[in-house]
Amino acid sequence: MKIGSPEHRDTFCRHFHDTYTDFEPDTLPWPELDEAALARLKSVPFWEEVFYTERRAGAIVAAFTETVTDPVLKKAIALQGFEEARHAKLIRVMIEKYGIDAAERPLEDVSDNVETRFKDFGFGECMDSFLGFGVFKIAMQSQFLPKEMFQIFETLMYEETRHIVFFVNWMAYAQAQKGFLARLTLPFVSFHYYMRALGRMIGTAKRGKDLNDGKEFSATQASVFLDGFTFRRFLEDCYSENHRRMDGFDSELLRPSFLPQLAETALSALRLWSFRARPLPA
Ligand SMILES: [Fe+2]
Ligand SMILES: [Fe+2]
Repeated sequence: MKIGSPEHRDTFCRHFHDTYTDFEPDTLPWPELDEAALARLKSVPFWEEVFYTERRAGAIVAAFTETVTDPVLKKAIALQGFEEARHAKLIRVMIEKYGIDAAERPLEDVSDNVETRFKDFGFGECMDSFLGFGVFKIAMQSQFLPKEMFQIFETLMYEETRHIVFFVNWMAYAQAQKGFLARLTLPFVSFHYYMRALGRMIGTAKRGKDLNDGKEFSATQASVFLDGFTFRRFLEDCYSENHRRMDGFDSELLRPSFLPQLAETALSALRLWSFRARPLPA
């Protein structure tokens, strides 16, 4: 299948529609939480940020949908916009049901430079999801919350995985539509957007740290999460979870490759390092 061909477009759009899951956030099987689990859920310092990010995602994707003229792409992107808005609704339902302290921050205006915003958002999702896969696995293994809760979040994780697969295919398709040269520059364009996404992520982390100074992700809550935590293990989890989740997708589709490749290189270097650092046997 030639990347950028009508066949490519039809395949990634069809796949996106075929893997859609129908659900309503307020009728999901939200579990009753005991006091300890409720305290852990409430102690997570990033719910406000997640709530804002999902609402902003819905607004950006909806604005971008309006500018798309190709009917096949438009229909698929509209579905993504619907799903992002539903993520925001899911987070809202959770915040209200469990009484989480997460304010609804006013949304920024997203009506200008819509295509750049959509690309920034897409590459940001690729980055967030790759790291999110690792966080999700560690949180689940440490039984930070009951498994019914993780089943609900799994719905969200699966949709984010579909979104990034859709996005990298759309990006390659859109770039190929601009011509042969543009197609060749795709890795450089992607790198540029990944660096922008990294910059924003660092900014968000800094803002979050300032905001949460005072409130605490208390030592006991964090220790449930961080027991035995090492950077290498985290990276291994991100990498293997990405692999596992991507395996479920049609082999004809492109998948995000920048971060998995970077992680693979870093992990090889870490393994080599620990091999060399081991003392010689006596
Ligand atoms: Fe989302
Ligand atoms: Fe998404």
